[in-house]
Amino acid sequence: GPEADRALVADLLRAVPDFPKPGIRFWDLTTVLADARGLAATTRLLGASLADGPADVVVGIEARGFLLGAAVAQELGLGIVPVRKQGKLPAVAASRSYELEYGSATLELPAGVLEPGARALLVDDVLATGGTAEAACGLVEESGATVASLAVVLELPELDGRGRLAGRPLHTVLQR
Ligand code: PRP
Repeated sequence: GPEADRALVADLLRAVPDFPKPGIRFWDLTTVLADARGLAATTRLLGASLADGPADVVVGIEARGFLLGAAVAQELGLGIVPVRKQGKLPAVAASRSYELEYGSATLELPAGVLEPGARALLVDDVLATGGTAEAACGLVEESGATVASLAVVLELPELDGRGRLAGRPLHTVLQR
């Protein structure tokens, strides 16, 4: 059941000290995804975030949201749309910039793949400051779709990413 799945994910998750710079603790999901039972448990838990209502499509956020999102889409019988870092997509529907600790980054939504009115399940690995998730939600909404749910494996509550999401439904597997 969900509690056993959650316990397995927590057990497989790895914290790497001092990456990408000294003093930062990096939550690494490669050890979860590389484990067949860990991937299956994570996929089930993220897919269960749709308890509130159905979705028509998965939106995966670069880069780890691609791995997780594709697995969740397959589990739910849906397709997947990638939200990518600037300059990677050949045809762009919308762009949105967000602040990083130093400077900013831009995310883009591909043109012609997200139907207006579609209900999207957004998937990513980690919710930290929430800048990435907020930008991705904004892109989906700007295109006329709605955020049915935002599903992440790990929420870092100290950084209050949740507070930036302005009431969009957020489902997190674990908090650290
Ligand atoms: C990480 C992570 C999330 C985001 C969370 O991605 O995978 O997408 O940061 O941080 P935030 O809540 O503070 O925005 P990263 O920006 O490192 O990009 P990558 O997955 O392409 O390496």
